Amino acid sequence: MKKLKITPIKNGTVIDHITPGFAVKVLHILEIPKSSSSVVSVAMNVKSKLGKKDIVKVENRELDPREVDKISLIAPKATINIIRDYEVIEKHRVHLPDEIIGIVTCSNPTCISNSKEPVQSRFLLVNKDPPRIKCYYCEREPDDIAERII
Ligand code: CTP
Ligand code: ZN
Repeated sequence: MKKLKITPIKNGTVIDHITPGFAVKVLHILEIPKSSSSVVSVAMNVKSKLGKKDIVKVENRELDPREVDKISLIAPKATINIIRDYEVIEKHRVHLPDEIIGIVTCSNPTCISNSKEPVQSRFLLVNKDPPRIKCYYCEREPDDIAERII
């Protein structure tokens, strides 16, 4: 039986080891299909060395650091693989920062970061996997981080 679920790509980015079920949220972060006409393939719940994972392959596109930071908040074990001419020329794990500034909005409507004051949102990391964060100002924890990514 053929083993390959989705075929290798020639050029682009493979986001691998995504927490199973979170590929759709990764697509949302990358604004696919809205802002991009790249060829994209998605595999969900594929078997890996350690349990299951999702994979997103985006052809002819590299991610910017802000997009990688966002991915780290929903898929902390993800790896970003840069592919050129079918070879993996670069591979790195996403890095979940201890402080998350200006990427997530606070779910507390009365938080100073949601007021007219020019205060950027700021969160502290509470747990790495699954990621949990709390607001530096009001200590509120968003229930669903993906929903609050800007
Ligand atoms: N990949 C791809 N197209 C290529 C090369 C690689 O889609 N031309 C994908 C592979 O299918 C894999 C990911 O990119 O999902 C990383 O490739 P590789 O480093 O070769 O795989 P592994 O060694 O299994 O990676 P890891 O150790 O990170 O699990
Ligand atoms: Zn807050």
